[in-house]
Amino acid sequence: MQHEENDLLSILKKFDRPGPRYTSYPTAPIFSPAYGASEYSSDIERSNNSSGGPISLYLHIPFCDTLCYFCGCTTIITKNRQKITEYIEAVKKEIDHTASILDPDRKVVQMAWGGGTPSYLLPDEIYDLSRYIREKFSFAPDAEISVELDPRELAFEHLEAFVSGGANRFSLGVQDFDEHVQKAVNRIQPEELTKRVIAWSRELGIKSINVDLIYGLPLQTPETFKRTLDKIADISPERIAVFNFAYVPWMKPHQKLIHTDQLPSADEKLQLLQLTIDTLCEAGYVYVGMDHFAKPTDELALEQKRKKLHRNFQGYSIKAGADLFGFGMSAISHFGNVYAQNTKDLPAYYEAVNAGKFATVLGYKMSQDDEIRKYVIMRLMCDLELDKQDVEQRFGIRFDIYFADALAKLEEFLPLKLISMEDGRIVIEDNGRFVIRNIAMCFDAYLDKLRKDKPIFSRTV
Ligand SMILES: C[S@@+](CC[C@H](N)C(=O)[O-])C[C@H]1O[C@@H](n2cnc3c(N)ncnc32)[C@H](O)[C@@H]1O
Ligand code: SF4
Repeated sequence: MQHEENDLLSILKKFDRPGPRYTSYPTAPIFSPAYGASEYSSDIERSNNSSGGPISLYLHIPFCDTLCYFCGCTTIITKNRQKITEYIEAVKKEIDHTASILDPDRKVVQMAWGGGTPSYLLPDEIYDLSRYIREKFSFAPDAEISVELDPRELAFEHLEAFVSGGANRFSLGVQDFDEHVQKAVNRIQPEELTKRVIAWSRELGIKSINVDLIYGLPLQTPETFKRTLDKIADISPERIAVFNFAYVPWMKPHQKLIHTDQLPSADEKLQLLQLTIDTLCEAGYVYVGMDHFAKPTDELALEQKRKKLHRNFQGYSIKAGADLFGFGMSAISHFGNVYAQNTKDLPAYYEAVNAGKFATVLGYKMSQDDEIRKYVIMRLMCDLELDKQDVEQRFGIRFDIYFADALAKLEEFLPLKLISMEDGRIVIEDNGRFVIRNIAMCFDAYLDKLRKDKPIFSRTV
């Protein structure tokens, strides 16, 4: 066992380099300012004919009460509630605009409230916005509606409001239960608070709860993090996300508030990852891949077995093929071959939507080559294997010729038994799951260009 662990650690060390998380392909740094609001508007209209199918909505609520020093999300820290009121009014205009173009018969099968902190809205604001969206769109009766919650300063009434708006999945930010770690990242969140919010959620009939943790935070040690993991496993949420701390101070300058001498070393970080996998698997969770664990009875684990898993901007998902429309600053939409992103600048967002326009400032139209590579990367990430013949039939290519470059890059994973290739399949072996980003990177056509520009991605392990 000891020998195996050392092997894994040396593998993880070898592949610990910057790389994307592939919640999309191409990745966001490829999006271009040449794509704007008018392109987005006509593309939405076209989507009614080309796809015309189910839709998925994303609502970005950027506000938070206080700043967590590790935060990598698009947030606005404010105690000024007037700002939130103004934002909700603007988002409603954007919802109106999109709904007026979309075919009203198209059903919403999925909606996510993300942030920032959606639960920082007041219960009345949550009721109001939920009602508004439901008036503008037609929801499928079994629509999956998820909400990101921060257990701090949250009342039962917030949860009631989300549930009355149809929410059926909650995701709670916890990060770490250790008091010293919490202090070091400016996020004091007593354990009891988290437990209370989970109990309330159960009381309200929520059957799917996810908890977010982060490994690699300041002052974390294997001993302290083991205690957190054990406590979370005891609480028994259906899903647990354990994110690798993305330390990107060149993009998020507030991360410089973290004392770098308190950060775990690369070795310690890898130990934390291994500890996480061992502890949660022993507790009965399935490692779905890329930071995500689920109970074997959870749809995420079940759908992975059936090769029906998908990956989107929220991570893994069980809903396929819905066109995604995002609302709010920084929100990303994706449908057909289109990616479109709203401005991250709040005044610019207001200016656009108040003038009856979209706030799109970046976008991208995928080529056929992008579509092929996206399919390959997403199947590898979700199914942990790829059938070359399936790709050949779908896209009319000869896999070994088309991907000669990528196959040469994959050679390095073979002797380490991270992947295997036989019977026309590329299979990600158990240890390969830990370096799945690196495996996917072999199929990414843009990495060399992006690497030349400037540091963008966090480290892969
Ligand atoms: C929008 S927050 C969740 C809701 C709420 N704002 C909260 O923090 O409780 C999304 C999650 O992203 C993760 N996260 C934030 N910054 C991160 C970073 N720099 N590296 C890795 N994960 C991060 C955290 O686990 C956090 O719970
Ligand atoms: S982690 Fe969550 S609560 Fe903390 S600043 Fe980021 S978005 Fe806000």
